[in-house]
Amino acid sequence: MRPVSVMILVAQVSFLLLVPVVFPPTSLAQDIVLPPPQTEGGLGLFAALKKRSSVSGAAISPAEVTLEELSTVLWAASGLNRGQTGWTVPMAEGLAPYVRVFVAGPGGVWLYDWADHKLVEISKDNVKAGIAAQAFVAKAWYSLIFVSDKKTAAGLGPGAPAADDFIQVLTGAMTQDVYLAAAALGLGARYIHSMKIDRIREVLSLEPEDYPVALMVLSR
Ligand SMILES: Cc1cc2nc3c(=O)[nH]c(=O)nc-3n(C[C@H](O)[C@H](O)[C@H](O)COP(=O)(O)O)c2cc1C
Repeated sequence: MRPVSVMILVAQVSFLLLVPVVFPPTSLAQDIVLPPPQTEGGLGLFAALKKRSSVSGAAISPAEVTLEELSTVLWAASGLNRGQTGWTVPMAEGLAPYVRVFVAGPGGVWLYDWADHKLVEISKDNVKAGIAAQAFVAKAWYSLIFVSDKKTAAGLGPGAPAADDFIQVLTGAMTQDVYLAAAALGLGARYIHSMKIDRIREVLSLEPEDYPVALMVLSR
């Protein structure tokens, strides 16, 4: 083979080796930019307080809860309401939220990213049937799973009570906001403690130090 032919062959092989492997788009994680939450109008606070209740399992409809409605409920749970460091719920020492909210729906599982008000995809699986003891949980369009974030909670000063106490307090505030937002939107909500912890840990790939604190169904 002439030297020029060898050079061309080498160039062709190198080109082939350098071509990046392109995966089909379906294998990529698909985050969801949420529509803006509803922050005006609607049912007044006192009317929502009068309406707040837990939907019964029998009353849960399998009908869709829209992305607009989910957006408003997540914003109520831990969205920004004053610039970059003010939230709808109070945080000890003004820390960023040290409880994360995951969303399990028919099309997958996502983490609510409050900073960008978007959903970060965790999985494409419908896991709703295996995460709680009560069968009606799978019927609701969404389950919201509240999970400790011990890394963020580690920012609490040395004089603060146990991080786990503050994580429970924050979960209470967040879940009450979900109840009120659901009441204002005419949706069903119910706090569920009877979770299948091991399954949730597996689905969300939780760090050993973190744990699910509560689950709420959100339904039409
Ligand atoms: C800490 C806590 C744990 C709960 N756990 C469950 C549960 O595992 N399953 C369930 O169906 N409801 C659960 N609930 C909902 C309560 O049963 C419900 O809030 C109560 O019956 C009062 O009804 P109301 O919310 O309509 O006022 C829980 C509520 C709280 C606050």
